[in-house]
Amino acid sequence: MAENGLARRGRALTLASMNPSVKRVEYAVRGPIVARAVQLEKELRQGVKKPFTEVIRANIGDAQAMGQRSITFFRQVTALCMYPALLNDPKFPEDAKRKAQRLLAACGGQSAGAYTASPGIELIRQDVASFIERRDGGIPSRPENIFLSTGASDAIVTILKLLVSGEGPTRTGVLIPIPQYPLYSAALAELNAVQIDYYLDEQQCWALDVAELRRALREARQHCCPRALCIINPGNPTGQVQSRQCIEDVIRFAWEENLFPLADEVYQENVYAKGSQFHSFKKVLFEMGPKYSETVELASFHSISKGFVGECGFRGGYMEVINLDAEVQQQLSKLVSVRLCPPVAGQILLDVVVNRPQPGDPSYQQFNQEKQAVLSDLATKAQLTEQTFNQAPGIHCNPVQGAMYAFPQIHLPPRAVQEAQAQGQAPDMFFCLKLLEETGICVVPGSGFGQKEGTFHFRMTILPPLEKLQLMLRKLSQFHARFLQEYS
Ligand SMILES: Cc1ncc(COP(=O)(O)O)c(C=O)c1O
Repeated sequence: MAENGLARRGRALTLASMNPSVKRVEYAVRGPIVARAVQLEKELRQGVKKPFTEVIRANIGDAQAMGQRSITFFRQVTALCMYPALLNDPKFPEDAKRKAQRLLAACGGQSAGAYTASPGIELIRQDVASFIERRDGGIPSRPENIFLSTGASDAIVTILKLLVSGEGPTRTGVLIPIPQYPLYSAALAELNAVQIDYYLDEQQCWALDVAELRRALREARQHCCPRALCIINPGNPTGQVQSRQCIEDVIRFAWEENLFPLADEVYQENVYAKGSQFHSFKKVLFEMGPKYSETVELASFHSISKGFVGECGFRGGYMEVINLDAEVQQQLSKLVSVRLCPPVAGQILLDVVVNRPQPGDPSYQQFNQEKQAVLSDLATKAQLTEQTFNQAPGIHCNPVQGAMYAFPQIHLPPRAVQEAQAQGQAPDMFFCLKLLEETGICVVPGSGFGQKEGTFHFRMTILPPLEKLQLMLRKLSQFHARFLQEYS
């Protein structure tokens, strides 16, 4: 009966009738390679014999999934807010209790279970603004320009929604770096906007070159209306940290070309290389004087998923907007109100991240120790990864100056490329799938992030614990050597 009914009526929604923009969306870091990794894990549990005993998931920047411990103070405050009866528990330090009480007082009905204001709890927006002011050496930040979000992803998609309009040659184009973090290509596909690729210079440690921005813009203007410029600093997947000079050049370029810069700064606390330093777009913009600071619109993004925090699952983040037209800002407020509010637990965690223990507070010492341990461990692993890959013939890896990834270039022999093409696979996907099958190591092919035609890469996180990372780097280098031999 049901089947007959279905045959007569047909489905209201089919692959042919569904939103074509959604079908164009791709998201490599959770793509087919991860589906295969999950299947392999299941087979291992069922006792199927494999050449490895464990799948190592180095495909996604999820620190706690890779064993990183949460920062005690952050979880104490969150736990107290979630279950206020714990406020009577002597095991919790006084400063955690004070923070939790302050946050609860700012929640509707003093409960973390209430909806909050749509751009986030006012008190937390004030704390975020103070954090930005301290970070940027006193340059003012206004709470009304802060929008809390469900991770940075949510804020990035929201601002893109405001920017996308027009049809055909007037359709909004957005400049994005190649290699890029695939949230950008996916969001632009979903919004049916035009993706404009600008290439980072691998020979110059993935530097951003304004001449390349000009080239990309000139070519794009022939078929769309470029309106925004996305910069990821420190870079994902490329791990570079932009110099202050570079940021200044990019801001001047955005001013000249009337572009709206989107500064993705979620890795701002992940800087490891000697001589590298994080410079926020906001700070550089203001230091360039009123000609720029009063005219260039800017949205910058931060998150609790990265840094030394790694609380990806709580889904917290914020966006700061500068110089937005007042009426557009009202539209932005309206748009975020439709989604009611970001998760309260994520907002609370964000507050403790931006308003962290200070010297003299009962929790400071432990907090600082935990924070330094995570960051120095990541710095060691960044260096180890670069060094190990560069000792392997046929692999070249730029320094991992920041963020959480290495994006080494790999040589693939022509015969491997041909075989991949015969199987309808990108050559680096072919390599990564074979790597997974033979070693259990799950990394993402460079083609998922974009790369110069004819070059091949993969992205790997540096998050696994040191011993596991060492083993993984060794196995990966050995596998690549075997692969070269097999296909030479
Ligand atoms: C460059 C970049 N931007 C944004 C995000 C999204 O982070 P969130 O978890 O805050 O949504 C990520 C996550 O990996 C990222 O690498």
